[in-house]
Amino acid sequence: MACPENMFFLIVLFMSGVLACFCQPDLIATMPDRLDVLTGSCVQIPCSFDIPDKHKNTFNSTIPISGVWIKESPKFDGRPDNVIFNSSKTVNIYQGNITGNMSQKNCTTVFFNVTTNYTNKYYFRIESQPFRATDIDKFVDIVVRDVPSSPNLTVSGELKEGNPVSLNCSAVAPCPEHPPELTWTLPTQFTTEKQLQENPDQTKSVFSTVTFTLSYLHHEKNITCTAVYPVGASNKTAEHNMMLNVSFSPKDTSASISPADPVLVGSCVNLTCSSTANPPVTNFTWFQISGGKTRHVESGQSYSLNVTVGDGGLYYCEARNSHGCGKSKEVWLTIKGQETSMGFGIAAGTLGAFLLISLISLFVWRRNSRLHDGLEMTDSPQGQNSPVGTVCADQATAGEKPEEPAEDQSEEIHYGDIDFSKLKTKETPAAAQDRVQGQESEYAEVNVTGRGDQ
Ligand SMILES: *[C@@H]1O[C@H](CO)[C@@H](O)[C@H](O)[C@H]1NC(C)=O
Ligand SMILES: *[C@@H]1O[C@H](CO)[C@@H](O)[C@H](O)[C@H]1NC(C)=O
Ligand SMILES: *[C@@H]1O[C@H](CO)[C@@H](O)[C@H](O)[C@H]1NC(C)=O
Ligand SMILES: *[C@@H]1O[C@H](CO)[C@@H](O)[C@H](O)[C@H]1NC(C)=O
Ligand SMILES: *[C@@H]1O[C@H](CO)[C@@H](O)[C@H](O)[C@H]1NC(C)=O
Ligand SMILES: *[C@@H]1O[C@H](CO)[C@@H](O)[C@H](O)[C@H]1NC(C)=O
Ligand SMILES: *[C@@H]1O[C@H](CO)[C@@H](O)[C@H](O)[C@H]1NC(C)=O
Ligand SMILES: *[C@@H]1O[C@H](CO)[C@@H](O)[C@H](O)[C@H]1NC(C)=O
Ligand SMILES: *[C@@H]1O[C@H](CO)[C@@H](O)[C@H](O)[C@H]1NC(C)=O
Ligand SMILES: *[C@@H]1O[C@H](CO)[C@@H](O)[C@H](O)[C@H]1NC(C)=O
Ligand SMILES: *[C@@H]1O[C@H](CO)[C@@H](O)[C@H](O)[C@H]1NC(C)=O
Ligand SMILES: *[C@@H]1O[C@H](CO)[C@@H](O)[C@H](O)[C@H]1NC(C)=O
Repeated sequence: MACPENMFFLIVLFMSGVLACFCQPDLIATMPDRLDVLTGSCVQIPCSFDIPDKHKNTFNSTIPISGVWIKESPKFDGRPDNVIFNSSKTVNIYQGNITGNMSQKNCTTVFFNVTTNYTNKYYFRIESQPFRATDIDKFVDIVVRDVPSSPNLTVSGELKEGNPVSLNCSAVAPCPEHPPELTWTLPTQFTTEKQLQENPDQTKSVFSTVTFTLSYLHHEKNITCTAVYPVGASNKTAEHNMMLNVSFSPKDTSASISPADPVLVGSCVNLTCSSTANPPVTNFTWFQISGGKTRHVESGQSYSLNVTVGDGGLYYCEARNSHGCGKSKEVWLTIKGQETSMGFGIAAGTLGAFLLISLISLFVWRRNSRLHDGLEMTDSPQGQNSPVGTVCADQATAGEKPEEPAEDQSEEIHYGDIDFSKLKTKETPAAAQDRVQGQESEYAEVNVTGRGDQ
């Protein structure tokens, strides 16, 4: 260093802002600030160097250049052990190799068999004839760990049913010769795209991208990206877990009636609607089908009524959230004395009413025959027997595919048994009793829902 001792000069130079002229480093090395490395693995230090203008005359690029790595501090006088690698020596403290082409000012270096005591700062120096210089300002911080750091996992795209979603996972590859293998654990089938890419600081990372279409069945499912680093004969793994929060229109909408048996006029009956939705259902609406007409009777999850003669008939509910709407199947409110609805029809004296009610009864009986107690029916297929169903359907299908592709359908069946226990936990107590139904009928419900409620 040829810095003048003279205070006056110093001040003048400070003032004029040409400090760089004489305090310019003797060598300009470029390398990452920090490298996280695994024990037993290798580390590649991306490195390049340049000769400052003031030394351009002394530096003769046709003369072979050797590279030197010094740990802890750029000074090695009296501390020869700090020189851990000198490319002009055959035996070095660290097993390493300058893989870059030094004549092209590429000082990229690899150290093998890294141990935890390699954790340190490292400075770079070149030695040539007659030029020798160390970049005293720039060092790389090497941090050696026994366990790899977790890969980064990011999700892009709105997490909504029917939307495509992209998952991106990246893991650092400090030893590009043995990059980590990225694997995914997802609640669906998927295809991946992987590549080894260079980061802005010249370090390398492995990237993996997955794209799939979201279904409400993916809600609250874990996704995992696992990085497997080969280290010698074994592997070290790190993973990143994330739970999907998928928004979807109401699903598994069902109406239940209590008590289910025929009731006397003047007694209390509760109708309860249950549904699974994200965000939760904001609006439950009750409808009565009576005399072939559908009538809005109540808003709210439960509908309690003091039964009058005209209350007998079919009821269903609609559940709505910001993403759409789900419609339950009908439940039958029977009034004692009116059970023989056919007799009532004849008494009314109109053959038309008789036929209509018979058809409805037959239809309902057929729909009900699947369930032992006839207490509850699940979502009916779209547009079926529902004059106002179109109101619900319009919202439910807005911007969504009318039907899941065949691939997703089998997927639903595959995951149905897992999903249901989870979905059920969100249901109202009234619907919880239906959980006693066998696994097989639960499967059937999932399938009906998958086709009908989209
Ligand atoms: C660089 O070194 C070569 C041989 O070592 C010599 O021939 C050449 O003159 C030198 N160039 C300069 C500019 O010193
Ligand atoms: C590197 O090795 C060469 C040859 O042994 C030696 O001349 C030089 O002084 C060494 N450099 C350092 C910084 O130890
Ligand atoms: C060092 O790296 C160079 C270039 O990649 C290669 O040719 C050479 O064999 C390596 N030397 C050792 C000792 O690994
Ligand atoms: C430096 O050399 C390494 C090989 O060791 C190479 O991967 C890298 O691309 C080179 N850098 C530049 C800037 O050429
Ligand atoms: C790393 O160490 C193992 C044994 O511990 C040895 O077999 C191997 O050759 C070493 N690798 C290098 C590049 O020196
Ligand atoms: C680093 O530690 C290992 C044991 O873990 C030891 O064999 C080696 O000599 C140490 N190296 C240095 C440079 O201190
Ligand atoms: C992960 O993200 C952090 C913060 O954004 C970043 O510093 C790190 O380099 C990333 N790691 C990978 C492997 O991309
Ligand atoms: C999902 O991940 C969380 C941690 O993120 C974990 O606690 C939970 O057990 C995982 N669930 C499943 C089903 O793997
Ligand atoms: C290490 O992981 C790879 C896949 O990344 C696997 O093929 C290999 O069998 C694993 N080795 C050990 C020892 O677990
Ligand atoms: C139902 O209404 C009738 C007439 O208003 C009343 O007498 C009866 O007590 C009510 N029943 C109940 C359970 O509230
Ligand atoms: C109906 O619900 C009300 C409150 O929601 C409750 O007090 C009543 O006991 C219920 N009646 C029947 C028959 O379940
Ligand atoms: C719920 O829906 C019904 C029928 O569509 C509507 O009349 C009512 O205003 C809605 N209530 C709320 C709170 O949105």
